[in-house]
Amino acid sequence: MRTGRTLGVGLIGLGYASGFHLPAVLGLPGLRLVGVSDRDPARLAAVARRHSVVAAPDYRTLLERPDIDLVGILTPPASHLEIALDAIAAGKHLVVEKPIATTLDEADRLVAAAERGDSKVCVAYVLRFVRQVRTMRALLAEGALGEIEILRCLASTPEMLSPTAPGHRRDRMQGGGSVIELGVHHYDLWSHLLGSAVAEVNAVGRSVRFHDQSSVVSGRMACGTLVTTCTSLCGADQYQVEAIGSRARASASLLRYDGLEVVRAGSGAGLGLLRVSGLARWVRGLPHAVRASRHGGTFRESFRGLWAHLADAVARDFQPEPGLRAGRASLAVAIAASRAGAVGGTVRVADAG
Ligand SMILES: NC(=O)c1ccc[n+]([C@@H]2O[C@H](COP(=O)([O-])OP(=O)(O)OC[C@H]3O[C@@H](n4cnc5c(N)ncnc54)[C@H](O)[C@@H]3O)[C@@H](O)[C@H]2O)c1
Repeated sequence: MRTGRTLGVGLIGLGYASGFHLPAVLGLPGLRLVGVSDRDPARLAAVARRHSVVAAPDYRTLLERPDIDLVGILTPPASHLEIALDAIAAGKHLVVEKPIATTLDEADRLVAAAERGDSKVCVAYVLRFVRQVRTMRALLAEGALGEIEILRCLASTPEMLSPTAPGHRRDRMQGGGSVIELGVHHYDLWSHLLGSAVAEVNAVGRSVRFHDQSSVVSGRMACGTLVTTCTSLCGADQYQVEAIGSRARASASLLRYDGLEVVRAGSGAGLGLLRVSGLARWVRGLPHAVRASRHGGTFRESFRGLWAHLADAVARDFQPEPGLRAGRASLAVAIAASRAGAVGGTVRVADAG
C-alpha cells in the first residue's frame, strides 16, 4: 500500500452509478483516478480516453497496481462478493455500492473477509453524507425532538422508466426493485438516525412494470419507534425524511439545500415565527448551496462526502462508517421486507436469513 498524501483510485463498473462517483473522485484534491474497468469494451474505452487513465477489461489488472489504493465497486450486486474478496485480498480500501450482496450468506462472507484483512471498507449509503440528514441526526442525538414516535421517508425517482435502465435493478433476485435496491438506503437511515436496530417489518409492493416498482415498507425499531418508507422507481423525483417526536418534528427535503424545517409540538403550521426561521435558515444555507451547486447539487455532493470520508479513514487509520456490518444489517431488513411482501404479514428481521 502506498502512503503518500494523494491516493490512487480505480473504479470498477462504469454504468449509471459511476456518473455520481466519477465526478466525486475527480473533484477531490487528495484523490487521483488511475484506472477504470468495465466488461463493456466501448464504455470502458470511452471513459478511459476521456480521463486519460488505464483501461482494464479485467478488474484484477487494477487490483495488481501498487499505485491504486482505493477501489470503487460499482457493478451489479451479484458481482460485489467476488470483486470485493479479490480487492480485500489485494489490500485495497473499498467503496462498495449497495446492496452489498444479494444474499445474507454472501454478506456474511464479505464481513468476515473484511474483518480478517486490513482494508477500510465504506458502503455507498450516501444519504448519511447529505447535509440535512447530518443535521437531523444531531437534533435526534441531542434529544431536541423529544421521544421519537414516527420516522418516515419518501423516495421517488423516474430512473427505471428509461428503456436503457439496467435489468438487474428491476429484478428482485439480483438485488433490484424498490424494496431492496432503493429501500436499503432507508433501512440504513432508520438505524443511523435512531441509533437502534430494525426489529420487524411488513411491506406491500406494486409490480406492474417490474418487481416492486413501488413499495411501502413499515416497521418497528428495537427502541419502539415506528418507521416507514415509501419508494418508487417509476415516479417523479422526491426525497423527504421526517421525524415526529413528542417535543417537535423535523422534516428534511433532500432535493432542496434549505430543506430542513423544525416545528415545535403545539405551535401549529404556517405561523409567522416559522416563516422567519425558514428565511433565516435559507440565508444561513446559502454559502453551502453555492458550494454544492458547483458539485452538481446536494445529492451529488454526498458522493464527495463518501469518498472524502474513506480517504480520511485511510489517512488517520480508523474504520469508516457505514461499514459492511451496516450493509449487512440493511440487507437483512430488505430480505425480511421482501418476504413480508410475499406472505402479506410481519416478519422479524432476525428471521430473514
Ligand atoms: N448509491 C446510489 O445512490 C446508487 C445509485 C445507482 C446505482 N447504485 C448501485 O450501483 C451498482 C451498479 O448499478 P448501475 O445502475 O450503475 O448498473 P449498470 O448496469 O448501469 O452499471 C454496471 C456496470 O458494471 C459493469 N460490470 C458488470 N460486471 C463487471 C465486472 N465483473 N467487471 C467490470 N465491470 C463489470 C457493467 O458492464 C456495467 O457497465 C448497483 O449495486 C446499484 O444498486 C447506487
